[in-house]
Amino acid sequence: MKLETFALERYQSIWENRVAWNLAESGVHPLRVTDLVNTPELQVAMLEQELGYPQTNGTIELRTLIASIYPGSTIEHVEITNGGSEANCVLLMRLLEPGDQVVFMTPNYLQARGLARALGADVRAWPLREAPGAVAGWTADTDELRSLVTRKTRAILLCNPNNPTGARLDAGTLDEVCRTASSVGAWVIGDEIYRGAEREADDTPTVWGRYERAVVTSGLSKAYGLPGLRIGWIVAPPELIADLWGIHDYTTIAPGAINDRLARMALVPERRATLLARTRGIIRTNYPVLRRWIEQREGMVHVPPEAGAIAFIRYPHAISSTELTSRLRDEAGVLIVPGNHFDMDGYVRVGFGSDPTYLARALAVAGEFLDAVTAHAR
Ligand SMILES: Cc1ncc(COP(=O)(O)O)c(C=O)c1O
Repeated sequence: MKLETFALERYQSIWENRVAWNLAESGVHPLRVTDLVNTPELQVAMLEQELGYPQTNGTIELRTLIASIYPGSTIEHVEITNGGSEANCVLLMRLLEPGDQVVFMTPNYLQARGLARALGADVRAWPLREAPGAVAGWTADTDELRSLVTRKTRAILLCNPNNPTGARLDAGTLDEVCRTASSVGAWVIGDEIYRGAEREADDTPTVWGRYERAVVTSGLSKAYGLPGLRIGWIVAPPELIADLWGIHDYTTIAPGAINDRLARMALVPERRATLLARTRGIIRTNYPVLRRWIEQREGMVHVPPEAGAIAFIRYPHAISSTELTSRLRDEAGVLIVPGNHFDMDGYVRVGFGSDPTYLARALAVAGEFLDAVTAHAR
């Protein structure tokens, strides 16, 4: 199996610990163990945790908590994985064969595209388009989706809320996607790892429950601020979940016992609500700081993200996003993500989920550098 380089992850892995200012993250500032394990009872539970293999598809308690988030699901509908990335991986390993077609919402986190291609699938892009004007937004055209779907389409892959734009598909669009998929018996896979990290007041609709072949992948890394736990999940019909458990035997066997334990503490309903409120609080506090910064930069424009701690910004400089972000990194020590890592040159992705003081300082350094590049470009 030949995998293309996953440019975004390679770039972050190489640089994130070397730069002075990291604004390449897509999540919010993470919690500490002590934020989760914050009572004497929980401390005892944590320290007494046996370090054997936990139940390999996730403990019943953890799967029960996750099933409660998705109406109509039971523990038989849930498989626990090591991060959302393993969820996507085992799912595509199970579903795709050489010669299958896959329709892939773009721009997008390119893990699923790389995996699908490596598995021999033909990947067709279904693009969100940036609509300018007074009410700027990213729009998805379901007529265009219908024109992309054929009898060979095995799956339609969504990222909702979307990385890198922060845009969301509404319930009507999700229903239309499901109708289109059902016309050819395709699966609809919603990577919903940013669901719960809304900047706007309302919740993002899930694809779960709209269609018998709808599947959700998600996890604790983004909306819950717990990427270091490496806990992800798949919610799908029980027959599919049974197969995925079998694939999981080959990949990592089981989640870490401590991770499963801490995930159970995080997803108790009251605690879950607190964690999501924390994430939304960070996003709502920090976004205006980034927005002002964008507005102060001549020629920079963006559609306000509806969810997630990331903004996808069009820049005016007459150089590629790879060159711009490399220079920003090497000359000013600030890491942001080039649009090229989403096949969208002319854009950069800036993460704004960090500590507010850190964010303000990093933006000040980046702003000074970018303004100088603009001035020299004239
Ligand atoms: C859309 C999307 N899915 C999955 C992942 C991977 O998540 P995890 O860190 O839980 O493996 C990411 C990480 O950035 C992501 O943006």
